[in-house]
Amino acid sequence: MSQIAAHAPYGGVVPEIAARAHVEIVDGLIARAMANAGVKPAALDGIAAAAGPGLIGGVLVGLMSGKGMALATGKPFVAVNHLEAHALVARLAGRLAFPYLLLLASGGHTQILAVKGVGDYLRLGATMDDAIGEAFDKTAKLLGLPYPGGPAVEAAAKDGDPARFALPRPLIGRPNADFSLSGLKTATRLAAQAIAPLRARDVADLCASFQAAIVDVIEDRLRVGLRLFRERVGAAEGVVVAGGVAANGAIREAMARFCAQVGLPLVAPPPRLCTDNGAMIAWAGLERLRLGLTDDLAAPARPRWPLDPKAERALNNKA
Ligand code: KG4
Ligand code: ZN
Repeated sequence: MSQIAAHAPYGGVVPEIAARAHVEIVDGLIARAMANAGVKPAALDGIAAAAGPGLIGGVLVGLMSGKGMALATGKPFVAVNHLEAHALVARLAGRLAFPYLLLLASGGHTQILAVKGVGDYLRLGATMDDAIGEAFDKTAKLLGLPYPGGPAVEAAAKDGDPARFALPRPLIGRPNADFSLSGLKTATRLAAQAIAPLRARDVADLCASFQAAIVDVIEDRLRVGLRLFRERVGAAEGVVVAGGVAANGAIREAMARFCAQVGLPLVAPPPRLCTDNGAMIAWAGLERLRLGLTDDLAAPARPRWPLDPKAERALNNKA
């Protein structure tokens, strides 16, 4: 079960409204999914539910619904890490072997990881401030575009001039694979303020310039990420882009160019499997179930749940 977002009119998600929206629609949603698939509960191999990380109210509703179904049917239960689901769904789309290099870019996370196996991740880089999706969302809000910002910025950028505004490419050339996006966000705001009031052409050019900066940053960070991957893990089977931001056409094209240059296959799941969805949770559940990695019904909901806990601890100790 994926998260269901409740959007405030000014953009963003209101946690309490989101949690209540989950309660109201989750039963009907499960019934509809089962009916569409033509499957009865008895025919299921197991029940998987996202157990985090994320806004805890929504996570709890999905998790408890999954546990309830597991209890009622006697089927094995799998508590899925939402980030692992983004990381593994490429294998549903593309039959990809481990290990692979992953750019995971969503509204709350931006990381470059080595995916060595189910439950086995090495973090090679991460954002030091905003996530890429968050930068898209904030840029959209600044320019008066709707939430979620990614698709709106991408659509506006199509008619824009990516060279009109010389926006920064933070951390390009650095030897680590980290990201920093708050400077780019501020530079975009200052560029917009300098020419306000904005006409449609200005918004399109700002979006195109912003997106071009993001694309350049991703390409550079990925190049370093692949170098680190080869040093620490060995040869990669492929490159995967996942998370909501992976739905972006310009980012997918840039990644395809990068992969052609380095001679690795790119697996970019279809956009509807990139933004949050239930199929990716089911797929991660299946991968874990195959390995006998089931959970008992005491599995907790987790607001934070890093894929590479060692890297997370190292970062916290530094801070
Ligand atoms: O993975 P996801 O659906 O939810 C989270 O787990 O966060 O990612 C949502 C994020 C949002 O920030 C949204 O603006 C961004 O993904 N996104 C995009 C596009 N579609 C969604 N960003 C850039 N271009 C897109 N086409
Ligand atoms: Zn997500």
